[in-house]
Amino acid sequence: MQDTSPKFDIIIFGATSFVGQILTRYMLNQFAVGGELKWAIAGRSQNKLSELKLSLGTAGEALDTLVADAADEDSLHSMCLSTRVIISTVGPYALYGEPLVKVCVALGTDYCDLTGEVQWIAKMLERYEDEAKKSGARIVNSCGFDSVPSDLGVYFLQHHANQKFGQTCSSIKMRVKKMKGAASGGTVASMTNIFKEVASNPALRKVLANPYAICPSDHGNTVRQDNMNRPQYDDDFNSWVAPFVMAVINTRIVHRSNTLVEGGYSQHFDYNEAMLTGKGLMGSGIAAGVGVGLGGFAMAAVIPPTRWVMEKFILPKPGEGPSIDAQEKGFYDLRFYGKTDDGQEIRCKVTGDQDPGYGSTAKMLGQAAACLAQDISKDDVQGGFWTPASVFGTQLITRLEKHAGLTFEIID
Ligand SMILES: NC(=O)c1ccc[n+]([C@@H]2O[C@H](COP(=O)([O-])OP(=O)(O)OC[C@H]3O[C@@H](n4cnc5c(N)ncnc54)[C@H](OP(=O)(O)O)[C@@H]3O)[C@@H](O)[C@H]2O)c1
Repeated sequence: MQDTSPKFDIIIFGATSFVGQILTRYMLNQFAVGGELKWAIAGRSQNKLSELKLSLGTAGEALDTLVADAADEDSLHSMCLSTRVIISTVGPYALYGEPLVKVCVALGTDYCDLTGEVQWIAKMLERYEDEAKKSGARIVNSCGFDSVPSDLGVYFLQHHANQKFGQTCSSIKMRVKKMKGAASGGTVASMTNIFKEVASNPALRKVLANPYAICPSDHGNTVRQDNMNRPQYDDDFNSWVAPFVMAVINTRIVHRSNTLVEGGYSQHFDYNEAMLTGKGLMGSGIAAGVGVGLGGFAMAAVIPPTRWVMEKFILPKPGEGPSIDAQEKGFYDLRFYGKTDDGQEIRCKVTGDQDPGYGSTAKMLGQAAACLAQDISKDDVQGGFWTPASVFGTQLITRLEKHAGLTFEIID
């Protein structure tokens, strides 16, 4: 009988992007070419793909390359037919991402990405969720630093709370204790594109401000979530805290997980994220400075002339990002504090080596796709829009600890 199964387990679409190149090297290192996991790279330019392949040396000689354009559905269709899982690093997703999601959903091809664009996820859910449930396509957004450490950190803490207290926490705080890293042109483009979209469609402000924007409509949670957008003192951490820029996406993903994980965390689940800045005058000064800096960036990004100056002269361009040395020297340390309805407390920490946005993100994304291809059968998890915690749970935690430099640990 003829074998009709797809030729590849995973295709990296956007392999020539800044993060795609790091991911390609990581996949080669982890899975080699011609091994058990069959993977290939894809992008819109054969020349760029060949250059990337050449840079991999002899180990990458047999790596397959495929050409597909994000705007050409026929090319996406043939690419998706040849694999079980697609990774996409072609962003901003709000500009280029929809045709690929549409094709994956139509064909039942599984999909992972790095989007942090809540308004785009909300739109994709509205347009494709029902069809994904029917076709069997598992769509998993936000498989990088946004939002794997937050989503799996909460999942891990809840798992241990359940074991220790026989109940999960109804309230969790995540605080960034330490972090070193920088942004790439692609990430900056995605962030500034959100400001452009809001300027042309003010209704999006409501979507972005809604903590439950990507939850199913019957989520039932009525808790007024604190968006932590002002400096304040946090007694549970004995420290001042400042707004954390990734909280806008991470909190939305965690709230969606609350509705998708087996049993849910809590009907009145309360979750927020912020950055620890220390005690005393110094701590409050840093918290105020971060708040002013983020506010200033947002103001400058909203106004077209200042946005133009920032894009042209200050911020990294698409394809640019932190040096290899900066990626190697980067790290993060996140702390989680949870409380049950009857006041029992539990804490954990999640750490990662390498810079959060690129070195570590590439490893998380690669392992998420491998987990989808190798660990999570279509019988166990059906089609639909999943979050990292709800689809991968403990299986991805194990992979990340073994192969991606992350740790998950309960602490006093
Ligand atoms: N969640 C996280 O933690 C996280 C971390 C890092 C990045 N990100 C996101 O990941 C995305 C990629 O970031 P990056 O810095 O790697 O971006 P980048 O270097 O600017 O790469 C963008 C990629 O999109 C490709 N592309 C653009 N138009 C295309 C088209 N029509 N058809 C096919 N490919 C097309 C480009 O192809 P060429 O190579 O041919 O130019 C390039 O490979 C961004 O959306 C960023 O926000 C998220």
